Amino acid sequence: MPELVWRGKYGADGARSNLVPSASPVLLARRERHRGAGWGLLAWGDNVAVADAWLAEFAGQVDLIYLDPPFGVGEAFAVNDQHGAAAYDDRWPDVDAYLAFMDARLAAAQRLLAPTGSLWLHCDHHTGPLLALLCDERFGRGDRERNGSPGFRNEVIWHYGLGGSSARCYAKKHDLLLWYSASSRWHFEPPMVPATSQRMAGLDKKCPDVWAIPSINNQAHERTGYPTQKPEPLLERIIASCSRPGDLVADLFCGSGTTLAVAGRLGRRWLGCDAGPVAIATCRRRLSAAGLHFELHSAEPLPAFDASGLAVRCDAGYMALVGDVSGVEAWFVIAGDEVTWLHARSRGEPVLATVAPAGEAAWVVDRQGCLARLPQIPRPRLEL
Ligand SMILES: C[S@@+](CC[C@H](N)C(=O)[O-])C[C@H]1O[C@@H](n2cnc3c(N)ncnc32)[C@H](O)[C@@H]1O
Repeated sequence: MPELVWRGKYGADGARSNLVPSASPVLLARRERHRGAGWGLLAWGDNVAVADAWLAEFAGQVDLIYLDPPFGVGEAFAVNDQHGAAAYDDRWPDVDAYLAFMDARLAAAQRLLAPTGSLWLHCDHHTGPLLALLCDERFGRGDRERNGSPGFRNEVIWHYGLGGSSARCYAKKHDLLLWYSASSRWHFEPPMVPATSQRMAGLDKKCPDVWAIPSINNQAHERTGYPTQKPEPLLERIIASCSRPGDLVADLFCGSGTTLAVAGRLGRRWLGCDAGPVAIATCRRRLSAAGLHFELHSAEPLPAFDASGLAVRCDAGYMALVGDVSGVEAWFVIAGDEVTWLHARSRGEPVLATVAPAGEAAWVVDRQGCLARLPQIPRPRLEL
């Protein structure tokens, strides 16, 4: 098989990189009692560290993994609202750096995948052909070579409506969804769609590998403002066709939480991870509004705070850290006047934090009741 080689694919000793799980520490929250259908785990942090920390509990157990990574577009993305908080950066020094990044994420996903599991990789023309080679090598050439062998199952074209046009080439109106199975046994329940031929008028047929699903418009009920948010009907089709109720579904680049919301609604258990604080804040809001139970984990050890009481730092994305002398640490995102808590702890133990308008004091409470009153949350300057 022809081989795709990039800088860093092999270590100095000539051995293939990314074979061994990473050893980065991840803070795992206390186990909740409710872990039934619809339950999930949301983690804030780099997905290799998080996925490898999850191995102790979920190695070889995830039935469906959907990955919607940065596509290698060469742009930084911001939230589409009046504040425009930074969401994530998709700029890379070169294509080798991008491929090294993606290879490590595919390796981490593979370690979680069940023997009968499926992995779906969402990409587009920027890097899709390269990622297909990466996946072929890792999972197998499947139906490209011999029907039913492990690896490649389908290349689905997602055709959407929105987007610009060009006078110099055809308008780009589709993404690629690459489906791989871990072995030669996998679950598939073909979705039915209305037939288009005259012969079958009024009947349904099995869905083919070209999907026309509108992208999210400005008025859509599900719109969160998070950039590159995918439409729920797209995830519904993937999740319903490649998993069963009660199965475990993971999204390691969960962004606004589309996969997690749909998986929960369809009665799957789910694991979600994102490195961006704005993404995690968006997921928390969305999943709570959907009435889903979840636990929050963090891969970032929270930095020590200034014992003078108020600390702090406001970065792009309006993330700030406050602390007071009672040992409370908290991370939150402020967008406009709304404060969304990401994570709060007291002396290392997770605690709950109340939502507060920016500029007012907030309470942080543990399971027994009130624990501490945080000083006024600073109102960030918009140009931060
Ligand atoms: C294309 S967006 C995902 C959008 C998502 N499917 C949705 O519907 O909202 C890609 C996401 O990958 C996240 N990301 C990038 N690098 C990451 C990493 N190393 N670990 C975890 N998440 C990462 C970004 O923060 C961003 O939210």
